[in-house]
Amino acid sequence: MNEASAIQNRQDPEIDFRQLDDIIEGQFGNDKENLIMILQAIQKQYNYLPKPALTYLAAKIKVPVSKIYGVATFYATFSLEPRGRNIVSICLGTACHVRGGDRVRDRICETLNIGDGQTTPDGRFTLETVRCIGCCSLGPVVKINDDMYGRIGSDEVAKVLNQYE
Ligand code: FES
Repeated sequence: MNEASAIQNRQDPEIDFRQLDDIIEGQFGNDKENLIMILQAIQKQYNYLPKPALTYLAAKIKVPVSKIYGVATFYATFSLEPRGRNIVSICLGTACHVRGGDRVRDRICETLNIGDGQTTPDGRFTLETVRCIGCCSLGPVVKINDDMYGRIGSDEVAKVLNQYE
């Protein structure tokens, strides 16, 4: 039994190793040159990079796990923690900060009962603080998934969040 098979036999209900094979082998030919694209595809599948998936990937493409973690932690786009179905990004760049971004962030934290970088227990939302998302004149700005909310007031937070399942 090779290393990949040994890992494949582990009991981990959240990982479907056949799906991983479809990504690593099927889409990217087990080629370590495609590491970043493979990680992007795994994150798209699970909404984060599960540890067993990274261990399995390391064996499949014959790259040390430490190197894979190095890449996964270098790029802010990757997450090693489970993330919610909806990513709420509150901008606290200078323009948004002076226009009350902190108050909006506090209201989001209160409403969801989570802090920066945390995910609600039901997996519905993850809250992230960002520094400028390029539309400063609309500050304060909140981005939820691909939707932008400009000039948002803290009293609008609950209504906006309620639109997301
Ligand atoms: S500072 Fe918030 S979008 Fe630029």
